[in-house]
Amino acid sequence: MDALLSKLSEQHVLTADEIIWFLQHLTPDLKKRLYLLASETRKQYYDESVYSRGLIEFSNYCKQDCMYCGLRRSNALAQRYRLTEEEILECAEEGYRLGYRSFVLQSGEDFRFTEQAMVSIVTNLKRLFPDAAVTLSVGERSEAFYRAMFDAGTDRYLLRHEAASRQLYESLHPGMSYDNRMNCLRLLKEIGYQVGAGFMVGLPGQTYQHLAEDLLFLQEFHPEMIGIGPFIPHSATPLKEAAGGTVEDTLVMIAMARLMVPDALMPATTAMGTLDPVGREKAIAAGANVVMPILSPLQVRRKYALYEHKICMGDDPAHCRSCIEMRIAVSGYKLELSRGDHCNFPGLS
Ligand code: 5AD
Repeated sequence: MDALLSKLSEQHVLTADEIIWFLQHLTPDLKKRLYLLASETRKQYYDESVYSRGLIEFSNYCKQDCMYCGLRRSNALAQRYRLTEEEILECAEEGYRLGYRSFVLQSGEDFRFTEQAMVSIVTNLKRLFPDAAVTLSVGERSEAFYRAMFDAGTDRYLLRHEAASRQLYESLHPGMSYDNRMNCLRLLKEIGYQVGAGFMVGLPGQTYQHLAEDLLFLQEFHPEMIGIGPFIPHSATPLKEAAGGTVEDTLVMIAMARLMVPDALMPATTAMGTLDPVGREKAIAAGANVVMPILSPLQVRRKYALYEHKICMGDDPAHCRSCIEMRIAVSGYKLELSRGDHCNFPGLS
């Protein structure tokens, strides 16, 4: 095990068999060492900074039917909403006033937000807040859409790969194509975005083999951002009876991803904070270095329920900012409000 831990932290590679063996033989003591190595590696690239991205969840309409997600189109219980462009810009303005210089616009796959509508939103965001980074997370779209958004000034794009195993991917995404998702990720990179991939931990049917495939995919694809969070079952989905992921298993994946892609920007996800009051702090101690405070208007927040019992539902953005800053300071890190670009995109900061 010591040899594997050294190989992981020094060469940043393991084979699938080594990853599986490692996961099978992890002890509490080894986990502690893994987290420490991951945390040290993060510091080599991004020191003690924890970067912030203000999250604006602007529509929960979705044409997809992912088995795990509360926004799936078959969930008739979901109360759907869309923000107007004006409301989106107001959220960003409040975030900008609080100091945030990086915004993430996320929605379900809602094609009412056409290319034209999205170009207008991004163009106005960039005009109003020229020193802020804009990230989109709106799912699978055409190459033309991705190019138009990039040309309008979008800096980054988040599209979790969800499962690198074709078989697991297909079992969770009825009607969707594994090849198309991979193709979208490759296109986004080719166009010049800073790209985010990632996956959930604790999905039904997910084995160590699957997790090894996820980690090896991340290593090969080398995304600028990696989002890893626990799967939390939603009562209005087919996976409502599933056990879900644990904080502990997710921490192991965060730390291993940090060691295999040492320069990635990795969020301490809201899902971690939902399962454990100090889940995000634990994620930071295991190698994560990004937080995503929510800027969406209070009256729609509860409706953006990928999973239930999400935290921060009643907290206004100013409260979120001080809460997060305090949590990060207590953990021994520093909240960074700048754009927080990936270290290979230095000209932008
Ligand atoms: N539990 C945890 N994470 C979820 N996501 C979707 N549904 C759930 C859930 N039930 C994640 C997916 C998606 C991201 C925006 O949220 O990985 O890519």
